[in-house]
Amino acid sequence: MSVVKINAITVPKDKQERFEERFKGRAGAVESTPGFEWFELLRPLEGTDQYLVYTRWESEEAYRAWESGQDFARAHEGGGSDLAPAASDSSHLWSYEVIESAAPDRP
Ligand code: HEM
Repeated sequence: MSVVKINAITVPKDKQERFEERFKGRAGAVESTPGFEWFELLRPLEGTDQYLVYTRWESEEAYRAWESGQDFARAHEGGGSDLAPAASDSSHLWSYEVIESAAPDRP
């Protein structure tokens, strides 16, 4: 059963451009991580000011291995004081289990 890990980050309006720029220059290592299934950066349009970093994994173990490994550390190297001004200190990790999913039924 896949698991979804969402990092919800509140980014003040004046930092959004910089925040998105950082993701454009992201490490790109997660793609080749065992058990990785999907990544999306979601920009808020209305109802919230939280960006969502959506990731889906084959298993909890696969996520944990990535999160505790060097690729995660490298992807967040700017970390701490450098990330803080871009993202404020407001970040939450949400965990879900996929219980149903669908893709378009096209020929
Ligand atoms: C305080 C916590 C976090 C902040 C502020 C943050 C912010 C960022 C930023 C700005 C980047 C773009 C690269 C960079 O400039 O460093 C990035 C990369 C990324 N973050 Fe986070 N992040 C945090 C924790 C997490 C967590 C817990 C997850 C788990 C879902 C996650 C998932 C990712 C992914 C998948 C990438 C792209 C990695 C790649 O390209 O290989 N982040 N993050």
